[in-house]
Amino acid sequence: MNQMFKIIGSGKYVPKTIITNEDLEKMVETTNDWIISRTGIKERRKAVNETCSDLAYYASKEAIKNANIQPDEIDLIVVATITGDQKTPSVANMVQGKLGITTSVMSFDINAACTGFVYGLEIASRMLDGKRFKKALVIGSEKLTEITDYTDRNTCVLFGDGAGAVVIDYDDTVKPSYFYNGAKPDTNDTLLVKKYIEMEGKKVYVFAVDIIQKSIIEVLKQANLTLNDIDNIIPHQANERIIQSVAKSLNIPMNKFSMNIESYGNTSAASIPLLLAEYIASGHKNETILLVGFGGGFTYGAAILYI
Ligand code: UT7
Repeated sequence: MNQMFKIIGSGKYVPKTIITNEDLEKMVETTNDWIISRTGIKERRKAVNETCSDLAYYASKEAIKNANIQPDEIDLIVVATITGDQKTPSVANMVQGKLGITTSVMSFDINAACTGFVYGLEIASRMLDGKRFKKALVIGSEKLTEITDYTDRNTCVLFGDGAGAVVIDYDDTVKPSYFYNGAKPDTNDTLLVKKYIEMEGKKVYVFAVDIIQKSIIEVLKQANLTLNDIDNIIPHQANERIIQSVAKSLNIPMNKFSMNIESYGNTSAASIPLLLAEYIASGHKNETILLVGFGGGFTYGAAILYI
Protein backbone atom coordinates (compact mmCIF):
# COMPACT_ATOMS: atom_id res chain seq x y z
CA MET A 1 0.00 0.00 0.00
CA ASN A 2 1.34 3.43 -0.87
CA GLN A 3 1.56 6.41 1.46
CA MET A 4 0.60 10.01 0.78
CA PHE A 5 2.98 12.50 2.37
CA LYS A 6 5.61 15.04 1.52
CA ILE A 7 8.91 15.93 3.17
CA ILE A 8 8.53 19.66 3.78
CA GLY A 9 11.77 20.25 5.69
CA SER A 10 14.95 18.43 6.65
CA GLY A 11 17.93 19.09 8.90
CA LYS A 12 21.07 17.52 10.27
CA TYR A 13 23.46 18.00 13.15
CA VAL A 14 26.90 16.60 13.88
CA PRO A 15 28.98 17.41 16.96
CA LYS A 16 32.13 19.48 16.50
CA THR A 17 34.74 17.04 17.88
CA ILE A 18 36.40 14.92 15.20
CA ILE A 19 38.04 11.52 15.73
CA THR A 20 40.46 10.94 12.85
CA ASN A 21 41.97 7.64 11.75
CA GLU A 22 45.26 8.97 13.10
CA ASP A 23 43.64 9.41 16.54
CA LEU A 24 42.53 5.75 16.40
CA GLU A 25 46.05 4.63 15.44
CA LYS A 26 47.05 5.84 18.93
CA MET A 27 44.30 3.83 20.64
CA VAL A 28 44.36 0.41 18.91
CA GLU A 29 46.56 -1.53 16.50
CA THR A 30 45.25 -0.11 13.24
CA THR A 31 46.32 2.13 10.38
CA ASN A 32 44.79 4.94 8.39
CA ASP A 33 45.34 2.87 5.23
CA TRP A 34 43.53 -0.18 6.65
CA ILE A 35 40.52 1.88 7.73
CA ILE A 36 40.22 3.77 4.45
CA SER A 37 40.74 0.75 2.21
CA ARG A 38 38.41 -1.56 4.20
CA THR A 39 35.64 0.92 5.07
CA GLY A 40 36.01 4.26 3.25
CA ILE A 41 35.99 6.14 6.59
CA LYS A 42 38.42 9.03 7.21
CA GLU A 43 36.87 10.58 10.30
CA ARG A 44 33.82 10.49 12.55
CA ARG A 45 32.27 12.85 15.11
CA LYS A 46 32.03 12.56 18.87
CA ALA A 47 29.48 14.30 21.09
CA VAL A 48 31.36 15.48 24.16
CA ASN A 49 28.96 17.46 26.33
CA GLU A 50 25.85 16.70 24.26
CA THR A 51 23.28 13.94 24.64
CA CYS A 52 21.42 12.00 21.96
CA SER A 53 18.38 14.24 22.50
CA ASP A 54 20.57 17.36 22.04
CA LEU A 55 21.72 16.08 18.64
CA ALA A 56 18.12 15.20 17.73
CA TYR A 57 16.93 18.64 18.85
CA TYR A 58 19.51 20.55 16.75
CA ALA A 59 18.66 18.50 13.63
CA SER A 60 14.94 19.02 14.29
CA LYS A 61 15.30 22.77 14.75
CA GLU A 62 16.88 23.00 11.30
CA ALA A 63 14.21 20.73 9.76
CA ILE A 64 11.39 22.83 11.27
CA LYS A 65 13.04 26.08 10.11
CA ASN A 66 13.44 24.69 6.58
CA ALA A 67 9.80 23.56 6.62
CA ASN A 68 8.86 27.15 7.43
CA ILE A 69 6.47 26.12 10.19
CA GLN A 70 6.18 26.70 13.94
CA PRO A 71 7.19 23.84 16.29
CA ASP A 72 3.66 23.56 17.68
CA GLU A 73 2.32 22.65 14.24
CA ILE A 74 4.01 19.26 14.82
CA ASP A 75 1.64 16.72 16.36
CA LEU A 76 3.70 13.51 16.09
CA ILE A 77 7.38 12.92 16.95
CA VAL A 78 9.10 9.61 16.22
CA VAL A 79 12.78 9.12 17.07
CA ALA A 80 14.78 6.14 15.85
CA THR A 81 17.71 5.47 18.19
CA ILE A 82 19.58 2.81 20.14
CA THR A 83 21.40 5.35 22.31
CA GLY A 84 18.68 7.35 24.08
CA ASP A 85 19.71 9.59 26.99
CA GLN A 86 17.98 7.19 29.40
CA LYS A 87 15.30 4.49 29.31
CA THR A 88 12.56 7.03 29.92
CA PRO A 89 11.61 9.77 29.08
CA SER A 90 12.09 8.93 25.44
CA VAL A 91 14.33 11.03 23.21
CA ALA A 92 11.18 12.07 21.30
CA ASN A 93 9.67 13.36 24.53
CA MET A 94 12.88 15.25 25.37
CA VAL A 95 12.94 16.80 21.88
CA GLN A 96 9.33 17.86 22.32
CA GLY A 97 10.35 19.63 25.53
CA LYS A 98 13.43 21.26 23.98
CA LEU A 99 11.31 22.53 21.09
CA GLY A 100 8.85 23.98 23.62
CA ILE A 101 5.88 22.07 22.23
CA THR A 102 3.21 22.02 24.93
CA THR A 103 0.26 21.25 22.67
CA SER A 104 -1.02 17.67 22.39
CA VAL A 105 1.64 15.61 20.66
CA MET A 106 2.26 11.89 20.44
CA SER A 107 6.01 11.35 20.92
CA PHE A 108 7.89 8.06 21.22
CA ASP A 109 11.12 6.25 20.30
CA ILE A 110 11.62 3.13 18.21
CA ASN A 111 14.54 0.71 18.08
CA ALA A 112 15.18 -0.97 14.74
CA ALA A 113 18.97 -0.40 14.89
CA CYS A 114 20.42 1.12 11.71
CA THR A 115 17.12 0.68 9.82
CA GLY A 116 15.30 2.73 12.45
CA PHE A 117 14.75 5.85 10.37
CA VAL A 118 13.16 3.96 7.46
CA TYR A 119 10.91 2.12 9.95
CA GLY A 120 10.10 5.45 11.65
CA LEU A 121 9.18 7.07 8.36
CA GLU A 122 6.79 4.23 7.54
CA ILE A 123 5.23 4.33 11.02
CA ALA A 124 4.78 8.11 10.99
CA SER A 125 3.51 8.26 7.41
CA ARG A 126 0.93 5.56 8.13
CA MET A 127 -0.27 7.57 11.14
CA LEU A 128 -0.69 10.73 9.06
CA ASP A 129 -4.07 10.88 7.50
CA GLY A 130 -4.87 14.55 7.78
CA LYS A 131 -7.49 13.87 10.45
CA ARG A 132 -5.79 12.56 13.60
CA PHE A 133 -2.21 13.65 12.84
CA LYS A 134 -1.11 16.21 10.28
CA LYS A 135 2.60 16.94 10.58
CA ALA A 136 5.23 14.56 11.92
CA LEU A 137 8.84 15.02 12.91
CA VAL A 138 10.83 11.88 12.15
CA ILE A 139 14.37 11.78 13.53
CA GLY A 140 17.34 9.42 13.56
CA SER A 141 19.80 10.32 16.32
CA GLU A 142 22.71 8.41 17.80
CA LYS A 143 25.50 8.86 20.29
CA LEU A 144 27.30 5.65 19.33
CA THR A 145 30.63 6.74 20.81
CA GLU A 146 29.04 5.99 24.19
CA ILE A 147 28.55 2.30 23.31
CA THR A 148 31.81 1.90 21.37
CA ASP A 149 34.66 -0.08 22.92
CA TYR A 150 37.83 1.89 22.13
CA THR A 151 39.97 -1.18 22.85
CA ASP A 152 38.29 -3.25 20.09
CA ARG A 153 39.77 -2.45 16.68
CA ASN A 154 37.08 -4.53 14.94
CA THR A 155 34.40 -2.01 15.87
CA CYS A 156 35.87 1.25 17.19
CA VAL A 157 37.02 2.50 13.78
CA LEU A 158 33.48 2.34 12.39
CA PHE A 159 31.09 4.36 14.52
CA GLY A 160 30.31 8.03 15.13
CA ASP A 161 27.64 10.42 16.45
CA GLY A 162 25.09 12.55 14.60
CA ALA A 163 21.44 13.19 13.82
CA GLY A 164 19.11 13.84 10.90
CA ALA A 165 15.46 14.87 10.89
CA VAL A 166 12.60 15.47 8.50
CA VAL A 167 9.19 17.09 8.85
CA ILE A 168 6.55 15.24 6.87
CA ASP A 169 3.16 16.60 5.99
CA TYR A 170 0.06 14.69 4.97
CA ASP A 171 -0.53 15.53 1.31
CA ASP A 172 -2.82 13.58 -1.01
CA THR A 173 -1.82 15.58 -4.07
CA VAL A 174 1.77 14.33 -4.30
CA LYS A 175 3.24 11.19 -5.87
CA PRO A 176 2.83 8.28 -3.44
CA SER A 177 5.67 6.77 -1.40
CA TYR A 178 6.37 3.07 -0.96
CA PHE A 179 8.00 1.00 1.79
CA TYR A 180 9.57 -2.41 2.13
CA ASN A 181 10.51 -2.89 5.79
CA GLY A 182 11.20 -6.21 7.47
CA ALA A 183 13.26 -8.23 9.91
CA LYS A 184 14.60 -11.69 10.53
CA PRO A 185 15.96 -13.00 13.82
CA ASP A 186 19.71 -12.84 14.43
CA THR A 187 19.81 -16.12 16.34
CA ASN A 188 23.62 -16.20 16.51
CA ASP A 189 24.17 -12.81 18.18
CA THR A 190 26.03 -11.58 15.11
CA LEU A 191 25.45 -7.96 16.06
CA LEU A 192 24.38 -6.93 19.52
CA VAL A 193 24.85 -4.26 22.16
CA LYS A 194 24.96 -5.08 25.85
CA LYS A 195 27.42 -2.52 27.17
CA TYR A 196 29.30 -2.04 23.90
CA ILE A 197 28.70 -2.89 20.24
CA GLU A 198 29.81 -6.49 19.58
CA MET A 199 29.86 -7.65 15.99
CA GLU A 200 31.02 -10.41 13.70
CA GLY A 201 31.82 -7.97 10.91
CA LYS A 202 32.24 -10.43 8.06
CA LYS A 203 28.83 -12.05 8.67
CA VAL A 204 27.10 -8.67 8.89
CA TYR A 205 28.84 -7.65 5.66
CA VAL A 206 27.51 -10.68 3.78
CA PHE A 207 24.00 -10.15 5.16
CA ALA A 208 24.13 -6.46 4.20
CA VAL A 209 25.15 -6.96 0.58
CA ASP A 210 22.40 -9.53 0.07
CA ILE A 211 19.58 -7.71 1.88
CA ILE A 212 20.29 -4.30 0.35
CA GLN A 213 19.93 -5.81 -3.12
CA LYS A 214 16.71 -7.62 -2.15
CA SER A 215 15.25 -4.52 -0.51
CA ILE A 216 15.97 -2.34 -3.55
CA ILE A 217 14.39 -4.91 -5.90
CA GLU A 218 11.33 -5.42 -3.66
CA VAL A 219 10.54 -1.75 -3.11
CA LEU A 220 10.89 -1.06 -6.85
CA LYS A 221 8.45 -3.91 -7.51
CA GLN A 222 5.92 -2.43 -5.08
CA ALA A 223 6.17 0.98 -6.73
CA ASN A 224 6.06 -0.57 -10.19
CA LEU A 225 9.22 1.36 -11.09
CA THR A 226 12.66 0.43 -12.41
CA LEU A 227 16.11 1.69 -11.40
CA ASN A 228 15.94 4.10 -14.34
CA ASP A 229 13.08 5.91 -12.57
CA ILE A 230 15.22 6.54 -9.48
CA ASP A 231 17.31 9.71 -9.42
CA ASN A 232 19.40 8.83 -6.38
CA ILE A 233 19.85 6.12 -3.77
CA ILE A 234 20.52 7.07 -0.13
CA PRO A 235 21.93 3.97 1.56
CA HIS A 236 22.81 3.34 5.20
CA GLN A 237 26.47 4.30 5.62
CA ALA A 238 28.15 1.22 7.12
CA ASN A 239 30.96 0.44 4.71
CA GLU A 240 31.76 1.90 1.30
CA ARG A 241 32.68 -1.57 0.02
CA ILE A 242 29.17 -2.86 0.82
CA ILE A 243 27.70 -0.22 -1.49
CA GLN A 244 30.32 -0.83 -4.19
CA SER A 245 29.45 -4.50 -4.10
CA VAL A 246 25.70 -3.81 -4.39
CA ALA A 247 26.36 -1.32 -7.22
CA LYS A 248 28.34 -3.94 -9.12
CA SER A 249 25.78 -6.72 -8.65
CA LEU A 250 22.80 -4.61 -9.64
CA ASN A 251 24.75 -2.80 -12.36
CA ILE A 252 24.11 0.65 -10.85
CA PRO A 253 26.77 3.35 -11.33
CA MET A 254 28.35 4.39 -7.99
CA ASN A 255 27.44 8.04 -8.67
CA LYS A 256 23.77 7.10 -8.29
CA PHE A 257 24.47 6.45 -4.59
CA SER A 258 24.92 9.36 -2.17
CA MET A 259 27.76 8.74 0.28
CA ASN A 260 29.18 10.64 3.28
CA ILE A 261 30.74 7.76 5.24
CA GLU A 262 34.15 9.35 4.69
CA SER A 263 33.24 12.20 7.06
CA TYR A 264 30.94 10.63 9.66
CA GLY A 265 31.48 6.86 9.68
CA ASN A 266 28.49 4.71 10.62
CA THR A 267 25.93 6.68 12.66
CA SER A 268 23.35 3.86 12.76
CA ALA A 269 19.76 5.22 12.70
CA ALA A 270 21.09 8.71 11.97
CA SER A 271 23.01 7.81 8.82
CA ILE A 272 20.14 7.84 6.31
CA PRO A 273 18.40 11.05 7.51
CA LEU A 274 21.76 12.81 7.84
CA LEU A 275 22.64 11.96 4.25
CA LEU A 276 19.10 12.76 3.08
CA ALA A 277 19.26 16.19 4.74
CA GLU A 278 22.60 16.89 3.02
CA TYR A 279 21.16 15.73 -0.31
CA ILE A 280 18.14 18.03 -0.04
CA ALA A 281 20.29 20.93 1.26
CA SER A 282 22.48 20.66 -1.83
CA GLY A 283 19.48 21.76 -3.90
CA HIS A 284 17.89 18.52 -5.10
CA LYS A 285 14.13 18.65 -5.57
CA ASN A 286 11.41 17.14 -7.77
CA GLU A 287 13.27 13.84 -7.70
CA THR A 288 12.38 10.25 -6.94
CA ILE A 289 14.80 8.83 -4.40
CA LEU A 290 15.28 5.45 -2.77
CA LEU A 291 16.35 4.98 0.86
CA VAL A 292 17.79 1.62 1.86
CA GLY A 293 19.12 0.34 5.18
CA PHE A 294 19.95 -2.72 7.25
CA GLY A 295 21.03 -3.28 10.80
CA GLY A 296 21.12 -5.29 13.98
CA GLY A 297 18.09 -7.35 14.75
CA PHE A 298 18.43 -8.19 11.85
CA THR A 299 16.35 -5.41 10.39
CA TYR A 300 16.20 -4.12 6.83
CA GLY A 301 14.13 -1.67 4.86
CA ALA A 302 13.76 0.49 1.81
CA ALA A 303 11.56 3.38 0.78
CA ILE A 304 10.82 5.22 -2.44
CA LEU A 305 9.98 8.88 -1.91
CA TYR A 306 9.34 11.90 -4.07
CA ILE A 307 11.21 14.98 -2.82
O1 UT7 B 1 25.44 -0.77 10.65
C1 UT7 B 1 25.58 -2.14 10.55
C2 UT7 B 1 26.71 -2.66 11.32
N1 UT7 B 1 27.93 -3.05 10.78
C3 UT7 B 1 28.34 -3.31 9.52
O2 UT7 B 1 27.70 -3.14 8.55
C4 UT7 B 1 29.71 -3.88 9.39
C5 UT7 B 1 29.86 -4.84 8.25
N2 UT7 B 1 31.19 -5.35 8.17
C6 UT7 B 1 32.24 -4.62 7.76
O3 UT7 B 1 32.09 -3.47 7.42
C7 UT7 B 1 33.58 -5.30 7.67
O4 UT7 B 1 33.44 -6.68 7.87
C8 UT7 B 1 34.63 -4.72 8.68
C9 UT7 B 1 35.02 -3.32 8.27
C10 UT7 B 1 34.03 -4.70 10.08
C11 UT7 B 1 35.87 -5.60 8.67
O5 UT7 B 1 36.42 -5.66 7.37
P1 UT7 B 1 36.79 -7.07 6.70
O6 UT7 B 1 37.39 -6.77 5.41
O7 UT7 B 1 35.55 -7.92 6.74
O8 UT7 B 1 37.89 -7.60 7.69
P2 UT7 B 1 37.89 -8.94 8.56
O9 UT7 B 1 36.93 -8.83 9.68
O10 UT7 B 1 37.81 -10.13 7.66
O11 UT7 B 1 39.36 -8.87 9.13
C12 UT7 B 1 40.51 -8.99 8.31
C13 UT7 B 1 41.73 -8.75 9.16
C14 UT7 B 1 41.73 -9.57 10.46
O12 UT7 B 1 43.05 -9.94 10.71
P3 UT7 B 1 43.55 -11.43 10.38
O13 UT7 B 1 42.65 -12.32 11.19
O14 UT7 B 1 43.37 -11.59 8.90
O15 UT7 B 1 44.97 -11.41 10.83
C15 UT7 B 1 41.28 -8.56 11.50
O16 UT7 B 1 41.75 -8.87 12.78
O17 UT7 B 1 41.77 -7.37 9.56
C16 UT7 B 1 41.94 -7.30 10.99
N3 UT7 B 1 41.32 -6.08 11.48
C17 UT7 B 1 41.99 -4.91 11.51
N4 UT7 B 1 43.24 -4.56 11.15
C18 UT7 B 1 43.61 -3.28 11.29
C19 UT7 B 1 40.07 -5.89 11.95
N5 UT7 B 1 39.89 -4.61 12.28
C20 UT7 B 1 41.07 -3.97 12.02
C21 UT7 B 1 41.51 -2.64 12.16
N6 UT7 B 1 42.76 -2.34 11.77
N7 UT7 B 1 40.71 -1.67 12.64
